[in-house]
Amino acid sequence: MSTAVTAKGLEGVVAGETSICRVEQTSLIYRGYEIADLAANATFEQVAFLLIEGHKPDDAELARFRDELVANRALPTPVIEFLKTIGPMIQSGSAAPMDIIRTCVSILGNLDPDSQHNSPDANLRKSKRILAKAPTIIGHMQNVIDGRDIIAPGTGGDANLSHAANLLYLMTGTRPSPEYEKVMDVSLILYAEHDFNASTFTSRVIAGTLSDMHGAVAGAIAALKGPLHGGANEAAMEMLKEIQASVAAGGTVQAFMDNAFAQKRKLMGFGHRVYKQGDHRAGILHALGRKAAESKGPDAVALFEIGEEVQRIMQDQKGIFPNVDFPCGMTYFVMGIPVPQYTPIFVASRISGWCAHIMEQHANNRLIRPRASYIGQDLRQWNP
Ligand SMILES: CC(C)(COP(=O)(O)OP(=O)(O)OC[C@H]1O[C@@H](n2cnc3c(N)ncnc32)[C@H](O)[C@@H]1OP(=O)(O)O)[C@@H](O)C(=O)NCCC(=O)NCCS
Repeated sequence: MSTAVTAKGLEGVVAGETSICRVEQTSLIYRGYEIADLAANATFEQVAFLLIEGHKPDDAELARFRDELVANRALPTPVIEFLKTIGPMIQSGSAAPMDIIRTCVSILGNLDPDSQHNSPDANLRKSKRILAKAPTIIGHMQNVIDGRDIIAPGTGGDANLSHAANLLYLMTGTRPSPEYEKVMDVSLILYAEHDFNASTFTSRVIAGTLSDMHGAVAGAIAALKGPLHGGANEAAMEMLKEIQASVAAGGTVQAFMDNAFAQKRKLMGFGHRVYKQGDHRAGILHALGRKAAESKGPDAVALFEIGEEVQRIMQDQKGIFPNVDFPCGMTYFVMGIPVPQYTPIFVASRISGWCAHIMEQHANNRLIRPRASYIGQDLRQWNP
């Protein structure tokens, strides 16, 4: 039986309805609020509440939500014990931090009393638990990678710190400056939600079978890992390091780019399925990252200058604009964050969007089961 042929990669296909987020070339809206407004005026905790609870929190709701997150930050012992074993996996390259955080979410599901329940209340409780614990997973993981004692294993951090600041504290043992806290907080807001992107769509497909939230989030993490999606923030920074090295060796950014174009190489952190004329999240993060670079010193500014030249050349010669992952790579680098944690940090934010979508899917479910257009062999006999 033949079926209608759809666009490769489902480009332009509207695969469902959502009241969580609207993505247009000129705007990105979370439940009615534009991203520039949120980045300038809200905190990540407020945005996460907006996404998963469905409305802007009042002061009492926000205080309660913050308390719930703080109370849920600590990891259960089996997850901490697993994290203590990851050193050889990371060193050998058999696991990347994204694989570790995915596994941790799976273990959390195995231990969660609500794991087999998909009611709205159970889903809301699980959303908050997973969201609260993600920075702790990243922090403890980085402590193990760095060969240091795990910071605050009993509490998951400092109760007085925000989600963003606590994430940086857990990774390093140092409470971040207000500037770095703000940059991290804004990056988390920018990363929180983006309608039917690949990882969110994955989470909805899983939820659509009436499978559980931890499973759907684990699947979404696997989808986000890829360099065409969330993994691009790490890949963009690796590419910038390559460009920096070639400039340090006497080359030019233009020569690197000419060579990349000749090889038809994909430049990481550029292009977008929806934002063909530019991703305005990128401008917001670039401005903040550049300011952080200026306060840090000439090396950091030099990195941004190389990035800006790459952007100019891509735009002039290819008409392709940076997406949010490009400034994110440079910004996190300037902040001293290890590159393999960039995409896990994206997870620590996007969990809020995934959980909102999983709940929306469960609340009005129909199995997601498209058709394929068959292009294989004609019918033939096993024993002709
Ligand atoms: C995001 C991405 C996957 C979107 O893919 P898409 O919608 O399928 O876009 P297409 O591959 O159809 O791109 C259209 C054209 O632009 C080119 N292009 C798109 N992104 C490019 C990039 N980053 N570097 C070089 N060329 C690029 C494509 O090669 C294609 O050229 P062609 O028509 O000559 O074949 C793609 O832009 C990409 O791979 N970017 C790099 C990874 C990245 O930054 N991902 C994060 C996304 S937020």
